Parts: sequence; C-alpha cells; structure tokens
Amino acid sequence: MPKKVLLATEKPFAKVAVEGISKIFAEAGYELVKLEKYTDKADLLKAVADADAMIIRSDKADAAVIEAGKNLKVIVRAGAGYDNIDLASATAKNICAMNTPGQNSNAVAELAMGMMVFLARNKFTEGNGSELKGKKLGIHAYGNVGRLVAGIAKGFGMTVYAFDPFVEKSKMEAEGIKVFDKMEELYSQCDYVSLHIPANDQTKKSINYDLLSKMKKGAALINTARKEVIDEEGLKKAMAEREDLKYATDIAPDCHAEIVESFGNRYHATKKKMGAETSEANINAGLAAANQIVRFLEKGDRAFQVNK
Ligand code: 3PG
Repeated sequence: MPKKVLLATEKPFAKVAVEGISKIFAEAGYELVKLEKYTDKADLLKAVADADAMIIRSDKADAAVIEAGKNLKVIVRAGAGYDNIDLASATAKNICAMNTPGQNSNAVAELAMGMMVFLARNKFTEGNGSELKGKKLGIHAYGNVGRLVAGIAKGFGMTVYAFDPFVEKSKMEAEGIKVFDKMEELYSQCDYVSLHIPANDQTKKSINYDLLSKMKKGAALINTARKEVIDEEGLKKAMAEREDLKYATDIAPDCHAEIVESFGNRYHATKKKMGAETSEANINAGLAAANQIVRFLEKGDRAFQVNK
C-alpha cells in the first residue's frame, strides 16, 4: 500500500504549486489526495481518516481532525504561523507537526508595504496623500517577514525601527535597524507600525487600547499577522477617539461590519487573507512541505518540527 498524503487546502495553492507537490509525491511513490475549497469540516474529517501525512495552510487541524487521522504521522503547515494546529493533541498522538518558515515571507512582506502605500494614498481615491519616504517604520517582531519588510522599506527611504525581545539587539543593529527596548516606544514614535507577531497565549489581544492610543499623530497600523493579536474593543475605541489613526489588515476583524463604514479611508481589510497568495509563495511553501514530509517519512528528519 503506498503512503497516502492529504493536501487539505480550503484556499487552494496555485496550479503550478500543486503540480510540483504532485511530482514530489509521485517520485516518492506516494498517493496524493487533494481536498481543495472544501466548505464542510466533515469532508476534512473523512479525507484525513486514512492519510499518513497532511499538508495544510490556515486549515484548522484541531483535536477532532487529529483524532480522525488514525494513520497520521506528520502534519505540515505550508507557511509560517501554526496557531491553527492543536499541538497538544498532535503531541499526544505522537504526530509530528511542522511549518515551513520563511518560504512565503516575501509575499507577506510585499503586501505589508503595499498596504502602507494604499493607506498613504487614501486607498487610491482622490485627494492628497503622503509619501513613505522619510517616515519612521516600526517593525513589531523581527522574524522572517519583519526582516524583509525592513529591507524593502529602506528602499522606500523609510527609517526602520524594530522591537523584538527574542532577537539579539546586535543582529538587528548590524542590519541597520534602530532597536527599541520597549514595545510602547515603537508605537509612540513610529508613523507606521507593521505587525509580525504570532498568535499565541502571550500575544492574543496584546495590541490593545493602551498601546493604540499611544500611537503617534497620523500613524497607521498594518496587520499582516493574525486578527487574534488585536483587542478589537480597544481598536474601535482608539480609532473612534483618534480620527488620525489608520488600520489596514489582511485579516478582517470580527467587528469588520461594524467599523467599515465609520472609519472610511482610515480602515481597510482584505476580503480574504491574501498575504501568501502568490504563485511564488505557494511554490516555495508547498514544495518545502512536500519535501519535508518525504524526508520525515523516509528518514525520520524532524527539521522544522514545532511540537517538540
Ligand atoms: C502564514 O502563516 O504562513 C501566512 O499567514 C499565510 O497563510 P495562508 O497559507 O493561509 O495564506
């Protein structure tokens, strides 16, 4: 019996990426089953039942999915954030959970810059906008995406600042970044703040009223990370009180319908998360995920395991 891999993508990869993934599994002698654009979780529960491995994007691999995957040995999140995997359930069932860090980062970084331009130019409507050149950009978390945003922003002539207690200060400084030791400084001193923190117990709702109300006059927050890190009540309050604040997000908040009219050109949310929606990112992350599965199943290679 060939090993079976499920590609479960509610938001499918570009065709060219799926072809590349298929080729890798064909060469390994595995069977690839595709479950794309599914709307019913029951379809995922059924499809995972006899899979040895599974590739997902933002698809939820919760306790029920993991329980249903009786043969599952490895789950690869083709992307960076793995807040959609129930790691405790995976660990309890001895399933290796991995991500593919860095593979789709450039696509997300380019979108973050695009969102800055979009807000600076009144969402491409009439009227005078402003330029990014000479403005201060604060990178909140200097990981793969944050670092790339910093590099592009320098090309725009922005001065780049960062706050990241998990990255050595000297490393950031060596890359020409001005480092803040306190998160509040980043929010109070920068014209743009670009969010790149993961969603976890420490960060959920951490971008709150206190922080947002400290933002510099006319500042904009760009969120290509996760909606869960925003305290939506705090966001609404800060933006209602401060008519100069702007927010662009790649992940519509739960309160989207409530705020979209009132905040006009100061607010924008993409219709569907599109940070990693490029052929290049799909190829990079999809092929990396497929190769990681083959290396894990054939050689026990656990590189990029996230449930250690
Ligand atoms: C990630 O964590 O890799 C990004 O948020 C992209 O997510 P997606 O694959 O669901 O578009």
